[in-house]
Amino acid sequence: MHDTLEPRFVFIFDLDGLLINTSPYHYKAWKKITPRFGFEFTESFNEELKGFNRLQSLDKILAKANIKLTETEKHNLSEEKNELYLSLIQNMNESDLMPGTEEFIKEAVRIKIPLAIGSGSKNAMTLLNKTGLIKYFNLIIDGNMISKPKPDPEIFLSIAQKLNIPIKRCIVFEDSASGITAAKKAGMYVVGIGDAAHLEAADLVFNSFKNVRAHEIANWFSII
Ligand code: BG6
Ligand code: MG
Repeated sequence: MHDTLEPRFVFIFDLDGLLINTSPYHYKAWKKITPRFGFEFTESFNEELKGFNRLQSLDKILAKANIKLTETEKHNLSEEKNELYLSLIQNMNESDLMPGTEEFIKEAVRIKIPLAIGSGSKNAMTLLNKTGLIKYFNLIIDGNMISKPKPDPEIFLSIAQKLNIPIKRCIVFEDSASGITAAKKAGMYVVGIGDAAHLEAADLVFNSFKNVRAHEIANWFSII
């Protein structure tokens, strides 16, 4: 945590796939669930689930497999997937961070930009603790604290409100199209990190945090 006086900007970060490479763990967990539907869960389908929470992901899997379940069955399955996921991430640590992440965050702290997490995951606190990232953030809003998941803007609007900062001073970092839609609906600026082909709605795109510095982002947005 760090103090700031009337910050010019706040940086708001998604978590899964942006700061932490959780995708292989989600993949392995879903892969154990889907054979019972006769559905082959591929890495490319896993990519399509980026930015969606466990119930949204299950709905997409069931739609693809052409299977209808009751709300209770869906709830139980998503809990089962989560138990598998939690056992897989037991030994998660800083080696699971996406490349360049910690250096980028440390520089942002050094230049006194307040930092927030806006993650739709209900496991965000576990991930932040295991990777040691938690100490850098002034505010963490996760999937337990919101009622409407991304692409709804609720999570980002709630961060702006809690930090009492104008929308146009919020710069969101996202790796998924769903997250970018949410941030844009909130009226915020967005930096996409990853494959530009999926991130075209962002204001700026970099393929990795390794290729960008925090002060460059702050400078870029201070002139628009
Ligand atoms: C979302 C991510 O925030 O959380 C997804 O964008 C991820 O990619 C999801 O799969 C998982 O969270 P949970 O708590 O719903 O399992
Ligand atoms: Mg993400």
